[in-house]
Amino acid sequence: MLRSHHCGELTTEHADQQVRVCGWVDSYRDHGGLIFIDLRDRYGLLQVVFDPKDSAEAHQLAGTLRNEDVIQANGVLSLRPADRVNPKIPSGKIEVRSKELILHNKSKTPPFEPTGDNIPNEELRLKYRYIDLRRPHLQEAMKLRHQLCHATREYFNALDFLEIETPIMGKSTPEGARDYLVPSRVHPGEFYALPQSPQLYKQLLMVGGMDRYYQIARCFRDEDLRADRQPEFTQIDVEMSFVEQEDILTTIDGLVAAMVKSVRGIDIQLPLPRLTHAEAVERFGNDKPDMRFGMELSDISDIAASCGFGVFKKTIENGGRVRGLNAKGAAEKYSRKMIDELTAWVGDFGAKGLAFFRVKEGALDSPIAKFFSEDEQKAIIEKLDGENGDLLFFVADQPAVVSAALANLRVRLGRELKLYDPMDVNVLWVVEFPLYSWSAEENRWQAEHHPFCYPNVEDLGKFDTDPGSMRAQSYDLVCNGYEAASGSVRVHDPIVQQKIFDFIGIKEEEAEERFGFLLNALRYGAPPHAGIALGLDRWIMIFLANDNIRDVIAFPKTQKASDLMTDAPSRVDAVQLRDLSIKVDLPEE
Ligand code: AMO
Ligand code: AMP
Repeated sequence: MLRSHHCGELTTEHADQQVRVCGWVDSYRDHGGLIFIDLRDRYGLLQVVFDPKDSAEAHQLAGTLRNEDVIQANGVLSLRPADRVNPKIPSGKIEVRSKELILHNKSKTPPFEPTGDNIPNEELRLKYRYIDLRRPHLQEAMKLRHQLCHATREYFNALDFLEIETPIMGKSTPEGARDYLVPSRVHPGEFYALPQSPQLYKQLLMVGGMDRYYQIARCFRDEDLRADRQPEFTQIDVEMSFVEQEDILTTIDGLVAAMVKSVRGIDIQLPLPRLTHAEAVERFGNDKPDMRFGMELSDISDIAASCGFGVFKKTIENGGRVRGLNAKGAAEKYSRKMIDELTAWVGDFGAKGLAFFRVKEGALDSPIAKFFSEDEQKAIIEKLDGENGDLLFFVADQPAVVSAALANLRVRLGRELKLYDPMDVNVLWVVEFPLYSWSAEENRWQAEHHPFCYPNVEDLGKFDTDPGSMRAQSYDLVCNGYEAASGSVRVHDPIVQQKIFDFIGIKEEEAEERFGFLLNALRYGAPPHAGIALGLDRWIMIFLANDNIRDVIAFPKTQKASDLMTDAPSRVDAVQLRDLSIKVDLPEE
């Protein structure tokens, strides 16, 4: 080894020992002939001193060092003199007095200082990701990622799960996004699809008798990217045989507890709380409520129906709803201008306006308060547990718009009013998702999750009568407002599976063509089985209280799915294309 110790492990206990340390020059100071280097590696910072009295040669070479040069310093670990002690860093009481300096590599002037206070723009950081990775934040993220994978493996291994790899080059899976395709040279004109998830393979593993499977699996989806979505991301993918929904929930409760214990060192209370989908939407407006804070939605449709405010009254007449929420104590925190901005913003979620009232002296204060009688004002205040100083917001519209607008408003207000500790981790299950939703665009029913979810047993008779009310044996884990996992009990009966394909308009031929291998496998003794997949990247974001998924992936892609460092995707040689029988037909620039 070039080094005897890394920079983070030396302490005052090592005083007077001969050491060899390696790393990057983090900073450089020349004080009256003594040269001080802060040497940095993954484990910490360590001061190295070059004194011409110890070695004229090392001192002279040290004089040429610049930030990010890679060096090795050999010398004696010493206690710092009292005037050089730095209480701010763990190694603040020690330093290496270097007798020998080896310059392993010079660095060009870096485009940014990885440990400086100024975080450069993301484009520059992604282009020089290898320098960015030296930043403490990314080092912490990579460590946490490793730790979560380790805790996951330990947990499942103890429960006798098998970790099994499934193909990356395979057949298109039906998770709803576009596929990334890989052309076949041997079969001209034919393509593999990169897996959107190992869904079909893990079900086939159950038919194959593997009984308990997990995999830390890479998934690929060509979809619109957002702050919490990457085209290439990682799932903790799980499937179990001879189980019911309850068994998956209990097993994953244990995994979540193990992850939290490993990262935060605390025991969370199990079982994790559960909400039905219907309850989540009613109380919080969506199926992934951030439960670190309250601010639940209230319905004032009954009051709105008879009030003098035309917008509210007409909405109810047209079958809509009026719902709202109470921003406690926020009456003076939001100016008219800020509320106008919020009003425009809820428009992005379809709301046509945002009614607001300040609660003042037991009544409502607002430009539209005059349309509400004294009794109506009192009733509204009571419905929302209003107190003087509160700010109430309402949206009147069709139920879906009201829910979407208020769910987003709630999250924004919770953040702006600092209603929670960003480091809190709040996990819950949302269960009983609707199985199918009507697509007006395509004029057909479609599966809410994927077509392999088993219906709630008591809803099995409703295919022909009331399919919209059918609930699935499916479940999401929601953490801090993110969908952090999703799964279901699968259909193991080929007849029910065919019925579902028929129902969502996948014709028998098409089903055979796309999933024939699965349907066929179901005919050869498929055990009852169920599973789930956790979005690993999202869990890391949550634990780090970071809302940018790119910050938790070593080499992420941009919002436009490109890698700025390697310049992927890129054009390929004509020869490569010819081998693949591919002709590129680009539109004229
Ligand atoms: P689903 O499509 O819901 O289910 O994905 C499971 C979890 O993966 C995470 N996730 C993502 N994370 C980052 N970037 C993305 N583009 C992305 N897409 C999804 C989410 C999500 O909850 N086969 C099923 C699981 C099953 O039924 O067992 C599936 O893939 O956290
Ligand atoms: P208007 O009558 O359009 O001037 O709106 C008066 C107030 O009602 C404004 O604060 C609007 O933002 C609000 N408003 C308008 N339409 C709606 C709606 N559909 N839901 C809630 N508030 C609304």
